[in-house]
Amino acid sequence: EKSGYENYMLKEIHEQPKSLRDAIAGRLNELTGEVVMPELTLTKADIDDIKRIVIVACGTSYHAGLIGKYAIESMTDIPVSVEIGSEFRYSANRLGHETLVIALSQSGETADTIAAVKGSIKKGARVLAITNVVGSTVSREANYSIYMRCGPEIGVAATKTFTSQIVIMYMVALYLGTMKGMLGAEQNIRMVAELKALPNKVQRLLENERYIMGLASLFRNAGQFFFVGRNLNYPIALEGALKLKEISYIISEGYAAGELKHGPLALITTNIPVIAIATQCATYHKMVSNIKEIKARDASVIAIASESDGLIDQLVDFVVRIPDSNEYIAPILSTIVLQLFAYYIAVFRGCPVDKPRNLAKSVTVE
Ligand code: F6R
Repeated sequence: EKSGYENYMLKEIHEQPKSLRDAIAGRLNELTGEVVMPELTLTKADIDDIKRIVIVACGTSYHAGLIGKYAIESMTDIPVSVEIGSEFRYSANRLGHETLVIALSQSGETADTIAAVKGSIKKGARVLAITNVVGSTVSREANYSIYMRCGPEIGVAATKTFTSQIVIMYMVALYLGTMKGMLGAEQNIRMVAELKALPNKVQRLLENERYIMGLASLFRNAGQFFFVGRNLNYPIALEGALKLKEISYIISEGYAAGELKHGPLALITTNIPVIAIATQCATYHKMVSNIKEIKARDASVIAIASESDGLIDQLVDFVVRIPDSNEYIAPILSTIVLQLFAYYIAVFRGCPVDKPRNLAKSVTVE
């Protein structure tokens, strides 16, 4: 079943060219730049009624939700908030018919997310489920349902399902933006082309695995890690930190890089490893300034940067390169670097990567 891989997590990381290809298959029209999702039965009138979107999820799925917020707010005029399932279900949220709740859950069986969905329906909101399991509770309870088509994910750490959740959030954002007349055909066509090019870029990235393994070997004894990013790379920093703490048991913190000087910079001293996601995007130069602040405290900085970046080498200790792509696609590629990094550190430390202590694949109790 593991197809020759040491464990499921490594197999599932390597399945991403295929799982991403399946997530978009038949759902994107290259010529018109349109999203084709018959399961998304929201009409133009339904979409015009939506005054706000609330994305609800837990753990890694919550991080995909944060990415979804950036995408939907960039491509539509609908305000979006993202909430953790266990908080949302007890909050005094005012939901009604004008609210679209998007429930993101790989398993579709996470107790807090199910409760959030049921509560939202009761209050009159409409719910769109995005899950990987056909017929799962979250999908059954919701008004609309999109499947991720990843195939089973056995490793406790979510890997391939996270990258597919992001891609599906982008398609939902494109769909809503197009229906609202906010995206030009040219913009759509460019985004669709980027999405279509993604699986091959992931394949290319995976050829870099040995270098990432080497870095993991070098840093395997670190006592703590920081992950920083800005904009779409901020949720990726949170996800990189979660993956590492979950499977290697190393204390790791994810931060928005601009937030460092509001407290955490006090913890950055000589040799503390910091992973800085510094791919090309609108905030790249701000990120470079943040990296300089970190280096000024003598931390060891590993940057994830685009292949064509000619500046970064002079600033940091190590650079992991990812194929050039637009600001939406680069975070997906950076994620896979961080999955491999966490994986190899855990393996070098002798941790049971597929079944980390105290954790279950789906959290069906509150
Ligand atoms: C982390 C991880 C968890 C899940 C969370 C939500 O690697 O897997 O944080 O993301 O338990 O699970 P789903 O998406 O099934 O609702």
